[in-house]
Amino acid sequence: ENSVKKSMPLFGKKVMVTAGPTYEAIDPVRFIGNHSSGKMGFALADELAKLGADVTLIAGPTEQKSSENLKRINVVSAQDMFDACTEIFDVTDITVMCAAVADYKPKVVAGQKIKKQESTLILELEKTTDILASLGRNKKANQILVGFALETNDEENYAKSKLEKKNLDLVVLNSLNDKGAGFKSDTNKITIFNRASEKMVFGMKSKTEVAKDICKAILNIIE
Ligand code: CTP
Ligand code: CA
Repeated sequence: ENSVKKSMPLFGKKVMVTAGPTYEAIDPVRFIGNHSSGKMGFALADELAKLGADVTLIAGPTEQKSSENLKRINVVSAQDMFDACTEIFDVTDITVMCAAVADYKPKVVAGQKIKKQESTLILELEKTTDILASLGRNKKANQILVGFALETNDEENYAKSKLEKKNLDLVVLNSLNDKGAGFKSDTNKITIFNRASEKMVFGMKSKTEVAKDICKAILNIIE
């Protein structure tokens, strides 16, 4: 059994995958979140584990169940996810940042439930830390960093600029223009760009098949 494992393409590789949304507290009973289901990240973590990798899945609040052959760390906010990611990043060989991290969070978290008063309520928001950009700044030459880009317009340019700005090895463009792609869906349609500016276009597939395509693109870098 051990020799079978050793022959797997990602045997001995430490892999970190993030998945799901983050929730940013407004007060003790409310939060700002998004519709990410976590399906894509969980499918990826699963496929990477099947290739023999030692996978840690850092998951935001989601209903998804993770398979037993990986380690799961549950987090809630962008800050929690940042802390969990930075704690293990140094020892990871491959990181795939699939989570839909909130870009903004309430500047102040109310200690008590906010009571309704005026007809309008203004919440002041501040930027969260860009986890992926931070990992990109700390990335060593032997580490592989993969990010996603969720776009509705000028997709290719935005995706490529994220690859550059965040110092990624691959960026997976998730186009929300495609019906059957996106947060809640069981299917997805992606385009992958690498550092050589090569463009890999894929058709609409199940998230499991999409995960396999992303794994292949990662294996291509390693070989
Ligand atoms: N990301 C992150 N930390 C954040 C925001 C995003 O690590 N605070 C990561 C996402 O997990 C994804 C990548 O950055 O892998 C791109 O996320 P996306 O929302 O497409 O882009 P942003 O850089 O946040 O820019 P914008 O939302 O304005 O397009
Ligand atoms: Ca964003």
